[in-house]
Amino acid sequence: MASPKNDGTSGAAKRVGRYDLITPMLPVKDEICAKFEKLLLSGNYILGEEVRLLEEELAAACGVPEAVGVASGSSALYVALAMAGVRPGDEVITTPYTFDATMEAIILLDAVPVFVDIDPKDLNIDPDKIEAAITDKTRAIMPVPIFGAPCDMHRINAIAEKHNLEIVVDMAQGYGTIYDGQPMGSYGRMSTLSFYPTKNLPGIGDGGMVFCREKRDADRIRKFRAHQAVTANGHLYSGWNSRLDEVQAMVIRIRNAHFDDEQRDRNKVGEIYDSYIPAANRLQMPNEGRGMHVTHHQYWVRAQNRDGLQKLLNENGVDTAVYYDPPLHKHELAVYCRNGGDLNAAQQAGKDILILPIHAALPFEDAHRIGVLVKDFLAGEAAQAQS
Ligand SMILES: Cc1ncc(COP(=O)(O)O)c(C=O)c1O
Repeated sequence: MASPKNDGTSGAAKRVGRYDLITPMLPVKDEICAKFEKLLLSGNYILGEEVRLLEEELAAACGVPEAVGVASGSSALYVALAMAGVRPGDEVITTPYTFDATMEAIILLDAVPVFVDIDPKDLNIDPDKIEAAITDKTRAIMPVPIFGAPCDMHRINAIAEKHNLEIVVDMAQGYGTIYDGQPMGSYGRMSTLSFYPTKNLPGIGDGGMVFCREKRDADRIRKFRAHQAVTANGHLYSGWNSRLDEVQAMVIRIRNAHFDDEQRDRNKVGEIYDSYIPAANRLQMPNEGRGMHVTHHQYWVRAQNRDGLQKLLNENGVDTAVYYDPPLHKHELAVYCRNGGDLNAAQQAGKDILILPIHAALPFEDAHRIGVLVKDFLAGEAAQAQS
């Protein structure tokens, strides 16, 4: 089924919002409501057949044998790190240019987030800078495909293998992202997903999933999410309530059946922006893009006068956002973290990155209009820099 949009009609008079959570629900509304009534009358509300089927379907989509539904993307991160054997005092290498949850999960395990700078071309952790941050306390590397851009997994894998480290991928923003022909979810010992309503594959509440290459990890997570204590890497971890409910799983399964259509429209918006924005001011993929696919969870543009560009777009009825300014190494929780080198690129990204509207229901005409505004603004900046 085609997603309900892009009929050529412009929203020119209306403000262009960053998200549209409702329009993609319209073609599946009746299906969801019918299933909801069945669920309501079944009395089976948590960890039932819908969760089991969702786990099966998403494990297959991500090319891993096991997937376990949990309460949120944050919960997924915590339990994946624990089951990878992260113990109090261990260090986990990650990026400072990400959402707080990446760091919080490490801190909640009494472990230490170690921040490594990003590559300004894709805003992901810079593989060239990881080795310098490794110590005898390092237990794991946690790459985050930020805004849906693939991380350079071959290089990160090689470093992890050389130093005997685990990899847990925080894939909250990366469902549908492909690295070298394989889903991002297939990399690492485990990877984690969020079903928060603005994510690529959304629920209508909180939810998350852990993708596991090893059955023993999945078995332990199934115990953990239902209050059973588990031992991993010789450490005893307390269980917790981290269950996924049936309503979320049912909605997510229905949305997943239309995922490719939605992605096609979302990607088309990305292509339109790409056609206006110079390569140096937007995402450049690792490996020159060969075998790569970005899902554009967010579309970003770099401008020297980022706030000026935001003001211009706002005056033209376009909502935008600034993310990760300042990055996590400037957060109040940074007292629990360590900097694994200078973090200049992350600091700079906090200052010059702007997030443009992107979603499957964005009229293409609006994307062209926004593209022209951004292009002209950047051309003005470039001319000023030359004069
Ligand atoms: C990179 C990243 N990690 C983790 C999370 C946490 O996911 P959730 O909101 O489902 O707990 C998010 C959510 O925004 C995220 O963007």
